[in-house]
Amino acid sequence: MIAKKNLLGIEFLEPSDIYEILDKAKGFTQQDLSGKSVAQTLDGYNIINIFFENSTRTQTSFEIAGKRLGALVTSINVKDSSIKKGETLFDTALTLNAMKPDLIVIRHPYSGAVQLLSEKIDCSVINAGDGKHEHPTQALLDAMTVLRRKNQLSGLTVTICGDIAHSRVARSNIFLFGKLGNSIRLVGPATLVPDCFKEFGVEVFNNMREGLKGADVVMMLRLQKERMDGGYVPSEREYFHFYGLDEEKLSQAKSDAIILHPGPMNRGVEIDSELADDLSRSAIQEQVEMGVSIRMAVIESLIARVIDK
Ligand code: CP
Repeated sequence: MIAKKNLLGIEFLEPSDIYEILDKAKGFTQQDLSGKSVAQTLDGYNIINIFFENSTRTQTSFEIAGKRLGALVTSINVKDSSIKKGETLFDTALTLNAMKPDLIVIRHPYSGAVQLLSEKIDCSVINAGDGKHEHPTQALLDAMTVLRRKNQLSGLTVTICGDIAHSRVARSNIFLFGKLGNSIRLVGPATLVPDCFKEFGVEVFNNMREGLKGADVVMMLRLQKERMDGGYVPSEREYFHFYGLDEEKLSQAKSDAIILHPGPMNRGVEIDSELADDLSRSAIQEQVEMGVSIRMAVIESLIARVIDK
């Protein structure tokens, strides 16, 4: 059982914590997750999901994960909440805390906001993505997918391509795959892959074909226009020409390289649509599937700290 109260980032996990979560999640993938066949270990526990930014995959899979474990899951629609009447973020946190939930899952557009809120909250907090900072459960489900496809989680060459500058998924994966002993390459235009990322011990490439050479895992990222305050790329057409993944560029990677994308995808901008749907290369749907098992594992681990006290 991971001994931590919160899951705020991969940065704060030991490799043993990561393997423990993956092991637990593997157990869930081997169960029939339909109907009521999963042990309802969290019967009577309360989970609140509050997402201050849009989400399809993360919010839904946290909700399904909590319900499959038997917890009562309340998802707050921020658009209908008292935040719209001017209630501050801290007052919202104090209000939710007063209802004594066992776990709160938070997504917020500002980097560091989830950590600040966690300091006001007594129960466990999971970061479901904070600005450009971290998206820890995404990196864990990415690792789970890689482990299933490659049968190993170290000694791989992992190439992450695209809008690294604005990506919490990139940061969490840099921490995760770095901690587990993999070579990490970042690929993109200089505007989207600032040199400061080199301090994470990664290699930076502005030429995509060079960065893909011999890669085992190719992770494509979305252009995060909602976090851009200017023109980072000349046009989407030109971006695809230089940095969109297509068969020709992918041929530089190993012949059994797998393609990942956290979603949502901009088809024809960062990835060729047919390649995204080619199940022999693309593990994108498997990533979504693993999201439920990983979130079940994380939820159960954090609440187990309280149960086992
Ligand atoms: N990967 C991811 O975080 O997707 P959503 O924004 O749909 O949750």
